[in-house]
Amino acid sequence: MTKRCFIIGHPVAHSRSPLIHGHWLAEHGLAGSYERVEVPPAQVAALIARLRAGEFLGGNVTVPNKEVVLPLLDEVSETARAMGAANTLWMEDGRLHGDNTDAYGFLAHLDACLPGWAGQTEKALILGAGGAARAVIYGLPERGIRRILLVNRSPERALELAAAFPKEVEARPWQEIAQLVGESDLIVNTTSLGMRGQPPLAIDLSGLRPGTIVDDIVYVPLETPLLAEARRLGGVPVDGLGMLLHQAVPGFERWFGIRPQVTAALRAKLEADIPAA
Ligand code: ATR
Repeated sequence: MTKRCFIIGHPVAHSRSPLIHGHWLAEHGLAGSYERVEVPPAQVAALIARLRAGEFLGGNVTVPNKEVVLPLLDEVSETARAMGAANTLWMEDGRLHGDNTDAYGFLAHLDACLPGWAGQTEKALILGAGGAARAVIYGLPERGIRRILLVNRSPERALELAAAFPKEVEARPWQEIAQLVGESDLIVNTTSLGMRGQPPLAIDLSGLRPGTIVDDIVYVPLETPLLAEARRLGGVPVDGLGMLLHQAVPGFERWFGIRPQVTAALRAKLEADIPAA
């Protein structure tokens, strides 16, 4: 049987997932493949038909197809349903399953690099209100964090996302960021600001308390201007590469039956592929 897996996106050329899965395939001596497939949203259904026909074991789904794929699945995990988006697909007993591992990846990276972090985190500040913010907000209560402040450039999107998690999340105005920074134990940037080619996330961090975790889900560059400033002020910077690595683990395990490890060697391989600034 073919052991081919895919990542489908549009564009998909930038995806680093093939590096991750290629590393694990080689590490475990498995004869499989993991391929980038350029698939615009209108062609997702045709690709899914090829998966059902046995051409692939499964695969990952990235922007802009994570939402498009959902109605094409037979089984949608509770997490994917809550996200309204799936990023990991696999066949099981003839049925097509979909899950979303972004929240898992976010939490697993923090667990790995800052053991005990959740016990010291009472209040979290989330910047941005897109799909990544939804994943982070979905994940935090799993670690007992239930006081979440949400700010977004467009206030209506923050209000809408907060309404989906009314017990935990409170939307606050963007203009309050400087004040909220000083009240927070964890700050997460889920916007695209700070990414290579984008303007930096220009927020006032001067009120940051030493020891506050500042987590940027952007990973190109690895150290964003936000993380550099947090480091300078005594914060604890966490980069976005770990989330990318950890979100890949459940998919590989589904397809190949081995739970892979996020090792220093894997991380170094990815770091070598990321431009410095
Ligand atoms: P994703 O699904 O990857 O999270 P998205 O849905 O496109 O991506 O969301 C991107 C986030 O970055 C949004 O919160 C967006 O703010 P808006 O909702 O106001 O568009 C935020 N963002 C993008 N450019 C921004 C900018 N120049 N200033 C502030 N926020 C910005």
